[in-house]
Amino acid sequence: MEHFTVTFLPDQRRVAVPRGTTLIEAADRAGILLYSACGRVGTCGQCRVVVGGEGDVLACQYRVERDLEVTVPDGSRYYTQQILRQTHGEGTAAEPSLIKVFVPGGEAGPEMSVEQVARILGRPVRPCPPSHESSVVDMGALSSGSGITAVCRESLSADPTEPLWLIGIEPGDTRAELYGLAVDLGTTTIVGRLHDLQSGHVLATVAEANPQIRYGDDVVSRIHHAGDPAGGEMLQSVVTRCLNDLLSRACSEAGVSPECVYEVVVAGNTTMGHLLVGLPVASLGQAPYHAHTLEMQDRAAASLGIKAAPGARLVVLPNIAGFVGADTTAVALARRLGELAPGDLNKVLFAPGGAEAVGMAIKLARHALRCQGAGGS
Ligand code: FES
Repeated sequence: MEHFTVTFLPDQRRVAVPRGTTLIEAADRAGILLYSACGRVGTCGQCRVVVGGEGDVLACQYRVERDLEVTVPDGSRYYTQQILRQTHGEGTAAEPSLIKVFVPGGEAGPEMSVEQVARILGRPVRPCPPSHESSVVDMGALSSGSGITAVCRESLSADPTEPLWLIGIEPGDTRAELYGLAVDLGTTTIVGRLHDLQSGHVLATVAEANPQIRYGDDVVSRIHHAGDPAGGEMLQSVVTRCLNDLLSRACSEAGVSPECVYEVVVAGNTTMGHLLVGLPVASLGQAPYHAHTLEMQDRAAASLGIKAAPGARLVVLPNIAGFVGADTTAVALARRLGELAPGDLNKVLFAPGGAEAVGMAIKLARHALRCQGAGGS
């Protein structure tokens, strides 16, 4: 197929694209993110660029039919925003649902069985959960020389009489390595916090703009895009890629291996949660705006392409209604934790979005200062 060169100015970035590629796709390839509030359907006018010799065009509608020089005005660029990443209260007591048991070299051999792990633990153990078929534990794959660590998970009911799920067998003694990633999956931004599941300490906080933004600024545009052929898969793949980037950055900041991250827990609005796990979202875009499901989603992280521990799971918190999502569930949970916590941590305020939360915090701080007679900024 015939290719043409598009040069983006003033960046001086050049890409070769096949005939018929839209300018916004060419910009994607050149690493230039343009605003696209309408999801690239040509109605918002935010992706306007200037084509040499022709003038203003909409990048989402203009198709490349020759070599071009394209100037991208500042107003059309999507700039990465400053994302709030710091919070108080780092380091809370943790009660992980994971148990690691070390079996010394002499006792662990290629013939190691689930029954043997159960005997050592003194509790019934079953092979990995039904939803985690992709992480079937190969009991005989490890050498016994330096011993092994069995990784088990409590059942969701956390009932100590219920059998544990065996989700992994690791070479050597890895008991000190037990991590989880908490994710705030926003329509605009995604924030991930890497936790040590034993101490409760936050080891790293990382954030990124939600890459789905190129398919529309808002939830409704994303729902619309998911209706295109392969649109849902595209939205899912860009967000899982972003989660992998965040996981890898957080682990490298903290100096830990992603292979020791066993839990990825996601809170977000209903649409973001559905798109992440590949559920249909069409019903969220039309009255009466029902969600496909309000249930918590518990998946093998590997089945979604998340590069954590082989037996890791990914949980999307339950939703409340089509447009009252798991972020609200997370607030309800935080409020309950606030009630249980010692000291004066006993209030949770709900804000409909991240930017509103920051605005609310600034207003509260101003009000508190004014009450103390310390006005001004
Ligand atoms: S008009 Fe091009 S993205 Fe909206």
